[in-house]
Amino acid sequence: MEYADIKWVEGQPYSEKFGDVYYSASDGLSETEHVFIQQNNLIERFKQADRFIIAEAGFGTGLNFIATCRQWLEHASHDSVLSYVGIEKHPVSPLDIRRVSDRWAELTPLYTQLLTRYPPVIAGSHLIKLFNGRVQLNLEFLDIDEALKGCRFKADVWFLDGFNPAQNTDMWNDVLIDKIAQHSKVGTSLSTYTAAGHVRRRLEDAGFEVKKVKGHARKREMITAAFVRESQYKIELPWYEIPQQSCNDKTAIIVGAGIAGLTTALAMINKGWQVTLIDRHDEVAQEASGNPAGVLLPRMNLGDELEQQFFVNAFLFATSQLDDLQKQSSVDFWHKTGVCSQELKEKAEKILSSYRTSQGFVCEGEGALGDEVAQEYMILKYASAGWVNIDVLCREIYKMIEKRISYIRSNINSLNRVEERWQVSDENSILASASVVVLAAGQSIADFELTSWLPVKSIRGQMTAVEPTEKSKKISSALSFGRFVTPQHNGVHYIGASYDTDDMSPELSELSQTENLKKLQDQLPDVFVKPDKLTGRVGFRSVSEDRMPVVGLVPEKEWFLKQYADLRHGRRTTKYLPARSYDGLYLNGAHGSRGLTSCFISAELLLSIIEGTPYPMSADAVNALNPSRFLIRRLKRDQKMTA
Ligand SMILES: Cc1cc2nc3c(=O)[nH]c(=O)nc-3n(C[C@H](O)[C@H](O)[C@H](O)COP(=O)(O)OP(=O)(O)OC[C@H]3O[C@@H](n4cnc5c(N)ncnc54)[C@H](O)[C@@H]3O)c2cc1C
Ligand SMILES: C[S@@+](CC[C@H](N)C(=O)[O-])C[C@H]1O[C@@H](n2cnc3c(N)ncnc32)[C@H](O)[C@@H]1O
Repeated sequence: MEYADIKWVEGQPYSEKFGDVYYSASDGLSETEHVFIQQNNLIERFKQADRFIIAEAGFGTGLNFIATCRQWLEHASHDSVLSYVGIEKHPVSPLDIRRVSDRWAELTPLYTQLLTRYPPVIAGSHLIKLFNGRVQLNLEFLDIDEALKGCRFKADVWFLDGFNPAQNTDMWNDVLIDKIAQHSKVGTSLSTYTAAGHVRRRLEDAGFEVKKVKGHARKREMITAAFVRESQYKIELPWYEIPQQSCNDKTAIIVGAGIAGLTTALAMINKGWQVTLIDRHDEVAQEASGNPAGVLLPRMNLGDELEQQFFVNAFLFATSQLDDLQKQSSVDFWHKTGVCSQELKEKAEKILSSYRTSQGFVCEGEGALGDEVAQEYMILKYASAGWVNIDVLCREIYKMIEKRISYIRSNINSLNRVEERWQVSDENSILASASVVVLAAGQSIADFELTSWLPVKSIRGQMTAVEPTEKSKKISSALSFGRFVTPQHNGVHYIGASYDTDDMSPELSELSQTENLKKLQDQLPDVFVKPDKLTGRVGFRSVSEDRMPVVGLVPEKEWFLKQYADLRHGRRTTKYLPARSYDGLYLNGAHGSRGLTSCFISAELLLSIIEGTPYPMSADAVNALNPSRFLIRRLKRDQKMTA
């Protein structure tokens, strides 16, 4: 993916590819205000909105977005959130956006916030939180067709701003208008500066009541429209359908106070939920998330484009969340030192070539101490990556939400649905009830009756702590080489972590420590001194069968097995009913060895499913995390599953 090639003609951005301007040469901002803000009556609607969804075809320079945010911040209530889906196939570079921002002094501060969060030019869904969380931008660097495939939201307003239809027939096709209709509800309004007859007719056919109104400045006409039909999404994979969630009140119970549970609690509280957090320990982060250190790095599986895209987008979101959290805390936990990752040369070259246009994301680096790297390897430097004191991060998140949640120490062992609410109990009594339950129970995620079929296992890991030496103090970036080593901090380097598939002992082991130190010695000979006693910590990762996290609604297993029993015969998908799940019961787990990367975005995904707002990732990625995938795969493979 590359930045749009913009020509500046008399101070205005112009696309040679499409032979059109990005906005009116006379006054782009007043055009935006006329075409998009006034014609959709946004100021009045913002005043009454609890949450509001706008989707834009053609995000471009972000002028419509920023002008809209300005009105939202001025007129909407402080606790309402604007979800804005900006779809853009040819992202505009930050330099070009800065030039646009300089043109309108009143917009510059808003643009500055956008630019500090603007993602590198990498295809996929980028979730960006702005203006203290009052605006959530889902920036889809994708063709609009791809961006709308399988996603589930109904916009309140559509901005159609995709250049002149005559010059961009690829975008303004019949299918596009159908998809826009699928993502609209009765009352959704739409506007576009064009008045083209075929656009008007297609909109009418698709269920919009269309009006021609006076265009901006010297432009005679433009189109506004209101959607007047009930619309249905096109169901492609019924077993991954996520039913619209009904929740009577905003109450939730989260089981598990590790990083998955805490990031979920934080996201929910920020959206006005009342949260009860339950853990079997007195304090948060006593299991996997109690590690003193972990690296934050995307997992680059070149054999699986979807997995790679998920981890890259999740990584970019996690870094921005950590930046925000670190700013709010006086204790250091986010060490943005960059990470140098040693990879086999062939893989490294492929990664560099895939991301050649976004060097800021990954570039060729050098050995941790400027040392030679073995011939078959190459060092890749991820400059915006780093390492985290996970235990401290968890405690700091807890401090931020402590006063707004209830914390119960108990070991949950049953979940019951009673009168449209979930009751959670330990062996003695019912502890709490709520309309939503999120199971974020780490290695115990499959210990509940309704989740016991999940193919997840626990894998032991041991970290080792070593003292710095004169040589090791020069290491400035975290280094990943199958293991990782952090730069020294408060007089200690952390080496992580062993991957012990056949050992379930919670005690520190001599064998794991020796292995960690040997790998370190092979990588950086004679830099460290072997500790004379066992040091470090043991934890257990929860890992799923396909190593992807498990995030979403808990499917009704018996129903799945019956309804989709003959899947292996390859019947047409339209023959099947859409999936059935336990209303309000969610999973957030199996974050494996990359919980720092995957937890933040997973929390947002859960919230978007619960609240019916746009997903923070592609629909394919949502399916790849969906707990039902294991049932479906098994049915397709015709494996016997006992009911
Ligand atoms: C040695 C090691 C090294 C790692 N290194 C990295 C790294 O470098 N980078 C990275 O990104 N990730 C790393 N990870 C992975 C990361 O630590 C995990 O993915 C992450 O901590 C998982 O968080 P979690 O909240 O899902 O689980 P946990 O932190 O285990 O939290 C689950 C919580 O649920 C509670 N619970 C469980 N069952 C119940 C119940 N029935 N009732 C009440 N409470 C319950 C537990 O007490 C626990 O507090 C590493 C993990 C290990 C073990
Ligand atoms: C008129 S400009 C948008 C101006 C923009 N709204 C602004 O505020 O600056 C049209 C945009 O549509 C984008 N576009 C064109 N075809 C597209 C497609 N098929 N999918 C997504 N975006 C597309 C272009 O790259 C361009 O940025």
